[in-house]
Amino acid sequence: MSISDIGKAKIVYEDQEVELPLMEGTMGEKAIDISKLRATTGLVTLDNGYGNTGSCSSEITFIDGDKGVLLYRGYPIEQLAEKADFVEVCYLLIYGHLPSADELSGFRDKLTHHSLIHEDMKKFFEGYPPSAHPMAILSAMVASLSAYYPEEDGDTNIIRLLAKLNTIAAFSYKKSIGQPYIYPRNDLDYAGDFLHMMHAVPAEPYELDDTLVEALNLLLILHADHEQNCSTSTVRMVGSSGANLFASIASGICALWGPLHGGANQKVIQMLERIEKDGSDYKKYVAMAKDKDNDFRLMGFGHRVYKNFDPRARILKKSADAVLSKLGVNDPLLDIARNLEEVALNDEYFVQRKLYPNVDFYSGIIYRAMGIPTNMFTVMFALGRLPGWIAQWKEMKENPKARIYRPRQVYTGATQRDY
Ligand code: CMC
Repeated sequence: MSISDIGKAKIVYEDQEVELPLMEGTMGEKAIDISKLRATTGLVTLDNGYGNTGSCSSEITFIDGDKGVLLYRGYPIEQLAEKADFVEVCYLLIYGHLPSADELSGFRDKLTHHSLIHEDMKKFFEGYPPSAHPMAILSAMVASLSAYYPEEDGDTNIIRLLAKLNTIAAFSYKKSIGQPYIYPRNDLDYAGDFLHMMHAVPAEPYELDDTLVEALNLLLILHADHEQNCSTSTVRMVGSSGANLFASIASGICALWGPLHGGANQKVIQMLERIEKDGSDYKKYVAMAKDKDNDFRLMGFGHRVYKNFDPRARILKKSADAVLSKLGVNDPLLDIARNLEEVALNDEYFVQRKLYPNVDFYSGIIYRAMGIPTNMFTVMFALGRLPGWIAQWKEMKENPKARIYRPRQVYTGATQRDY
């Protein structure tokens, strides 16, 4: 499948009329190809924050933000959330089709057998202060994998990275609480193994809870890809220079860390805790978010692309109720979140700006109920997003027309002057 040429768009500039190719994607999205605009007119385009710029064509993920649609390789997120597990979704995103039974078992087997990290890497964890944010450790460890696997063996490195990020994430948590690292177990699947490495202690047998495994699979699937978001564009940008897989993904992890992106899930819980401490007066916080003299924002609200609702948030809202009741957890933050959502959704300010809860709004409440600490939330997002980053990096590498990312600018500084 490829982008098709459906005619021309015209730009009138001074006394010239320039024709630019008009392209259409498979879901009917149209775009003007401006790549030759500068050569013909001397003009560049200016698009603050790339809000209206397609940086590539891609076959991986489709979003219709006005309708609240999200498809991975054509499959609706709602169906994958209900029927697939995370490992299947990883395969789908990276290799482009749902795996056959043999392909899936071979893939699971490879993930299992690459989950150990080199023993020397354990020393790196020891160098960090216990207060270190696990995202700092995660990005550094992923970049460091390139020192252990410097060869450009694309597919094996993809498997290594998927398998080892689970272990690295769990080790970074164990480090932060001063407990011994728990090694991966070959009899557990991806999500179960992660929970085991996070929660088991050497002195006791660890019993997996199916509710937790199911919830984790769901959370990881919902985060698995989201087309050209900030961290994915970062992965592509770094990868476009020829940087290796590990270096490219490490940079994506850093981009994800920010509170306007993946870091929002941690900020949502901190915001809900703050509201609870402040007497649960959520209306006051809605008012603060609307006040232009106050830089407070409702974390977990708003999205660059979704202007109707975020389908992932819908699924998670339902799942939060189910998971908390199955686990017998009664979290007052869930009530605050629900109230906050209701007030905001009926408020003129939020309605006008089409601000809806996003994926980060309810995910933290589920992670909390699962016993995952707040500073690990963004790490959980990274675990989920990894197959998307890998699929996007691989797609770019395999595209013979891919070029180094190198945007232009409009310079507004001092004109030339003498020293
Ligand atoms: N609370 C209050 N006002 C908001 C919020 C919010 N959460 N989000 C946007 N606005 C207002 C903003 O002040 C602006 O108002 P005005 O037009 O009067 O200046 C308008 O809505 C448009 O906002 P924007 O910042 O221009 O929108 P953007 O597309 O650049 O930013 C966003 C999108 C997600 C960064 C932003 O909505 C935000 O900061 N949300 C809170 C952080 C958050 O939840 N991030 C997670 C995003 S979803 C997970 C992921 O993919 O990373």
